[in-house]
Amino acid sequence: MSTEPIVIDTSDPAFLANPYPLFRRLRNEAPVHWWDRGHMWMLSRHADVEATLKDPRFTVDNRKWRFHRGNDQLPRELIDQAENGLFQLGSTDHARVRRLVSPSFTPRAAAKRELLVQEIVDELLAKIDPQSFDLVADFAEHLPFLVIGRILGISAEHEHEFREWGHALIQVTFPLLPPDEHLAMARSTVPGFGLLERVIEERRRSPGDDMLSSLIQAEEEGERLSSAELVSLVGGLVTAGSETTVHLLAFAVLELLRHPETLARVREDLGLLPGVIEEVLRHDNFGGLGVARFALEEVEIRGQTIAKGDMVMLLLGAAMHDEDVWPDAERFDIDREPAPNLSFGRGPHFCLGANLARAEARVALQTLLTRYPDMQLTGEPVFRPHPLLRQMVSLPLRLQ
Ligand code: HEM
Repeated sequence: MSTEPIVIDTSDPAFLANPYPLFRRLRNEAPVHWWDRGHMWMLSRHADVEATLKDPRFTVDNRKWRFHRGNDQLPRELIDQAENGLFQLGSTDHARVRRLVSPSFTPRAAAKRELLVQEIVDELLAKIDPQSFDLVADFAEHLPFLVIGRILGISAEHEHEFREWGHALIQVTFPLLPPDEHLAMARSTVPGFGLLERVIEERRRSPGDDMLSSLIQAEEEGERLSSAELVSLVGGLVTAGSETTVHLLAFAVLELLRHPETLARVREDLGLLPGVIEEVLRHDNFGGLGVARFALEEVEIRGQTIAKGDMVMLLLGAAMHDEDVWPDAERFDIDREPAPNLSFGRGPHFCLGANLARAEARVALQTLLTRYPDMQLTGEPVFRPHPLLRQMVSLPLRLQ
């Protein structure tokens, strides 16, 4: 055990390139750690993270945080979006909205979308230079936004605006941005809400064969989604489903290129791809830190008292490198026995888009591997500090 104090700096380039040494120290030396600068507890062991995800004494609603800033200055659109979204609706409404939208995200629905994903993958690859290709900037960064946009029925002319909106919405979810930056970012989301409302109105008048139209029409025991819930849901799909999937695509390619023997096996047998994707989800979690929960009452964990209103950060990446669950956890190994993976969360807020994300990754990887048998890394990945993610912004490759 080290005698050095545990220092956490989430914008330190060494942490961004490899957060796992810090996560190991936290698991071993301070599994329930108070990070003063971040005003939060950090849980790093698999058992604690899993238990807290399912524990009704914690909520995902950040209004319960004792440091929560009032909403006074935020645009009305953003407050409505949060209040009607999956993280703040009460449990009965949350369950109703999930029931209405879940049919669009079953494994069968995701399998049906593979053709659409293939179409977008082909469009993106048709525009690139195979000699000088950045997997993130030229490909991965675009795919999930285009997929969710087209599933919803956002037309090509609005795709750019829709994506900018998604980026801004992601940034404002982070509670620790400096107040000025937070407010500026919050205000920049307003035009996107206007766009979405116009698109919804259009679909009400003339429904199409898209998810937005079917959500508008959705009825379950006479219940519909309210307009505010619909707008929130779309915002939620865009924020939750985009950069997480960019991350999965980027790390899947990086891991394959860094493990030539695995790559050779996968090229021989594309049936190994689902196992590759599961291992990337475990080994390279998207989170810079993880997912947050807020204590609804005083809770004791491993002798530490979490006060009512405290934030607890569940370090998914640390939990999924826990040697108690995955021996030799830092090794990337596609032959592991299936174990309880937390990459898509657990409990009532389990990821709605898990099947879609897996389908996107499978189609994209299969296409890259079969179309470019000589794909190679030409540089190191570049990371950028991000409020929520361990964000790779560049992965330079030569494809041919
Ligand atoms: C590799 C890609 C993805 C990863 C790793 C991921 C991970 C997660 C995790 C960990 C949660 C739980 C958050 C919490 O408990 O606080 C979550 C929730 C959610 N995800 Fe994903 N996600 C991915 C892709 C997607 C996609 C493609 C969509 C949809 C287009 C999506 C939609 C959602 C939604 C709507 C929720 C909130 C569910 C609720 O609160 O009931 N995700 N995701």
